[in-house]
Amino acid sequence: MEERKVLYSAIQPTNNLTIGNLIGAIKNWTNLQNDYDCFFAIANMHAITVRQVPADLRQKTLSMLALYLACGIDPEKCTMYVQSHVPAHAELCWVLNSFTYVGEMERMTQFKDKSARHAENINMGLMDYPVLMAADILLYQTDVVPVGLDQRQHVEIARDIAQRFNNIYTPTFKIPEALYMKVGAKINDLLDPSKKMSKSAENPNGSIFLSDDRDTIIRKFKRAVTDSGSEVKFDPENKAGVSNLLTIYSVFTGKTIAEAEADFAGKGYGDFKLAVGEAVADKLAPIQKEQEKLLADKSYLEGVLRSGAERAAHTANKTLAKVYKKIGFYQL
Ligand code: TRP
Repeated sequence: MEERKVLYSAIQPTNNLTIGNLIGAIKNWTNLQNDYDCFFAIANMHAITVRQVPADLRQKTLSMLALYLACGIDPEKCTMYVQSHVPAHAELCWVLNSFTYVGEMERMTQFKDKSARHAENINMGLMDYPVLMAADILLYQTDVVPVGLDQRQHVEIARDIAQRFNNIYTPTFKIPEALYMKVGAKINDLLDPSKKMSKSAENPNGSIFLSDDRDTIIRKFKRAVTDSGSEVKFDPENKAGVSNLLTIYSVFTGKTIAEAEADFAGKGYGDFKLAVGEAVADKLAPIQKEQEKLLADKSYLEGVLRSGAERAAHTANKTLAKVYKKIGFYQL
């Protein structure tokens, strides 16, 4: 069998995911799983760097897995597991901490943002977040990490730490590359189309969550801001709201933007917004149904996580053993 390149990604099992996450991350993974040896983790260790409600964190771990599966990520092709089930993550993180400078971590954009937002809880985990992420990636001798722009700096630092370690000892870690998704479909907030749709937006009416039911979805699209004028035309400069809705429609129907515009030639914004809402609701319904069905079968889900953790640990422990040997940890 030919050696496939290794791809690594993870999502935190925290807030509700939005259709932006579906398009930006999860859907891409379903395509990538055929070309790469994929590891997809549920990053619960990263999640606790901001306060979580324990019962919710536990529940969301399973519902995140069910969502991955419902979206078509195939446990036969990919290794799906929970980060805390593979102790090597914490262990390598500890080693890498001694190869990472405090100043580097203080300068990370996300650390500065989160410190500002959680001023009452600027904990060591928050500062160490990029090192844990580097450990995630480096344990699997990862070739590529598909990420959004907000995670770019974290992949850079993982490369720096890997290079530093390799230079001090001998080559130990593969130097990973960030893989930026080429699809230009960036989905913006429905109420403020100058901003990216976010799972933590102030007003939840600007985001479509993967858990929203049909009525909620249609109601949110009806309230989406459009622009002055009445033509359904793609013009992100002057018609940010309409253009965002056209993008969503195009992504959810598989039509091009030009075909989407043609569908609404001579029609008003009201019809247009309803059609976008219906297209999204139609696409989400089967995913939600499948997710619910899977969640009812806890023993199946736990089986997926058990074999995922076993496979992940097998690879991760090989890297960790090399690291321990190089740094001089006495081995029995
Ligand atoms: N920090 C990432 C996020 O919030 C999640 C993550 C954790 C991750 N470990 C990773 C992503 C390793 C890519 C690779 O989106």
